[in-house]
Amino acid sequence: MCGIVGYIGEKNCVPILINGLKRLEYRGYDSAGIGLIENGNSSIIKNKGKVSVLEETVSTLNLHAGLGIGHTRWATHGIPNEINAHPHSNEKNTLFLIHNGIIENYQTIKKGLQNLGYNFKSDTDSEVLVHLIDSFLTKDYSLSKSVQLALNEVEGTYGIAVIYQNEPDKLVVARKGSPLVVGLGEHENFIASDVSAILAYTKQVVYLDDGELAVVSKDGFTVKTISDKEIEKEIHEISISLEEIDKGGYPHFMLKEIIEQTESVRNSMRGRLLVNEGTAKLGGLADVVDRLVNSKRILISACGTSWHAALVGEYMFEQFARIPTEVEYASEFRYRNPIIEKDDTVFLISQSGETADTRAALHEAKNRGALVLGICNVVGSTIARESMAGVYIHAGPEIGVASTKAFTSQLIVLALITLLVARKKSLSTSEGKKITDELQKLPDKISEILKLNDQIEQIANEFKDSKNFLYLGRGYNFPVALEGALKLKEISYIHAEGYPAAEMKHGPIALIDENMPVVFIAPKDSTYEKIVSNIEEVKARGGRIIAIADDADGEIDSLVDYVIKIPRTIEMLSPVLNSIPLQLLAYHIAVIKGLNVDQPRNLAKSVTVE
Ligand code: G6P
Repeated sequence: MCGIVGYIGEKNCVPILINGLKRLEYRGYDSAGIGLIENGNSSIIKNKGKVSVLEETVSTLNLHAGLGIGHTRWATHGIPNEINAHPHSNEKNTLFLIHNGIIENYQTIKKGLQNLGYNFKSDTDSEVLVHLIDSFLTKDYSLSKSVQLALNEVEGTYGIAVIYQNEPDKLVVARKGSPLVVGLGEHENFIASDVSAILAYTKQVVYLDDGELAVVSKDGFTVKTISDKEIEKEIHEISISLEEIDKGGYPHFMLKEIIEQTESVRNSMRGRLLVNEGTAKLGGLADVVDRLVNSKRILISACGTSWHAALVGEYMFEQFARIPTEVEYASEFRYRNPIIEKDDTVFLISQSGETADTRAALHEAKNRGALVLGICNVVGSTIARESMAGVYIHAGPEIGVASTKAFTSQLIVLALITLLVARKKSLSTSEGKKITDELQKLPDKISEILKLNDQIEQIANEFKDSKNFLYLGRGYNFPVALEGALKLKEISYIHAEGYPAAEMKHGPIALIDENMPVVFIAPKDSTYEKIVSNIEEVKARGGRIIAIADDADGEIDSLVDYVIKIPRTIEMLSPVLNSIPLQLLAYHIAVIKGLNVDQPRNLAKSVTVE
């Protein structure tokens, strides 16, 4: 949510901020703004809409500054408009602040400040912060001390960046619950809510932890806690390259990321398969593997697409590792006083590693003494750092808001963990080898599926005007049905529901008529015969059927209206392959409808508020 970028140094920061904001736009895109300070002058430029609108405004002004902050917003409090856009400023326009997060006690603070004579311009919770900091500055505290004192009064979450005309040699940032990094350069330094914003300028970063405040100047930085304890921070080297976060000639990041799955799936297993032994090696779990293997129960918590991956994980863990497994939405998990025992393992799955609800679930599980393991994509992300151990999925940066390659890589990592645990329990070498063999074949099979792009585009054309869709699957492919429906909803704004195929008879069947497309995920697995019966039931009621089926399936053609035939794999891995045509179907429908695939309305890539 909300992207934050800032610069202090000898260059003109305006293009740096605009470029940074463009990289961050997947975090929020309803309005954007920059605040600049130079030679005793300060200016704010804000616009409703995308960063491109701001860029256009900025291009008409001759702006130059060595100190500046920029923000792209995902609205929480207050509609998207220019006034609610960040930065927010004090009355004298000398103090600028950008904020990501939610200030929960803002009403109380606001009243107090209004009593002191402060006027508020916006409807946001964020604006209280700037006036609160101002109230300490007027008592002659320094900027960093004022920020510190203000944050002591605040409840909620924040990643903030603040600049002040009277102290133009510093940029102050602080975090609690919302990510922030400091990027290090030569006579210049950067701050950002994620590294993609500053990757073009530096690969050396310092990750701030919750409760920390950094004072950044052009030649250095210091970090202390909000409660005033000095802290030594480690400098990290970022391994991702600029090309990885570019569109690379594709019309959309989403398409690029769908096509990248041949490679991303390979990268998720690179160096992790012990083919001769029919097992997996996961360095991140080496120290905890015995505790994991001996877990009495596994809980997996996540949100959105990652939650769908978790559901597939449940099938895998129970079938092969024979450990009772439960999956729970992270947002529900923490609020229902869950029963978590010390011999439980709790996995948190998160592409971004920053999702607020998933983080909260992590803390809950940790406090209750479970083994807490992260499965994340973003290296150095908060969930990855706060977990006791974990596995990176190594899918590479995912920019499209609708998750695609991260999902398939999460499935691969879940399969690897299953393999590791199951082989240490009762799975034989030969059974393990069947899985490692099939894992190795997946990238080639994905390439085959991607060749069906044109066929899927044609099907998309047929169904682009449908108002509703039903996605049905059984067993391992029930979560795939959920994920297929989610992809369609997210980017094409068509109502879609995923169901276990047999459950159709208990309600959704009432919706079926000639206007209702039904997507069946129908591989020739242990549930095939049952799925065929469900297909017949839909057909008998005039529904239009699209099926994802095995390429060797000769029966299904006569039963359905459209069939997308894909290579076969073992049941546990079939979700990896079956989800790809569904990603393409959603993608093409959205493109045909002329929608913004990479930045669907109202959504954000990384949801850092609860
Ligand atoms: C948002 C994104 C989804 C994602 C979910 C969980 O809703 O739009 O694509 O699946 O958050 O994100 P995470 O980073 O925790 O996997």
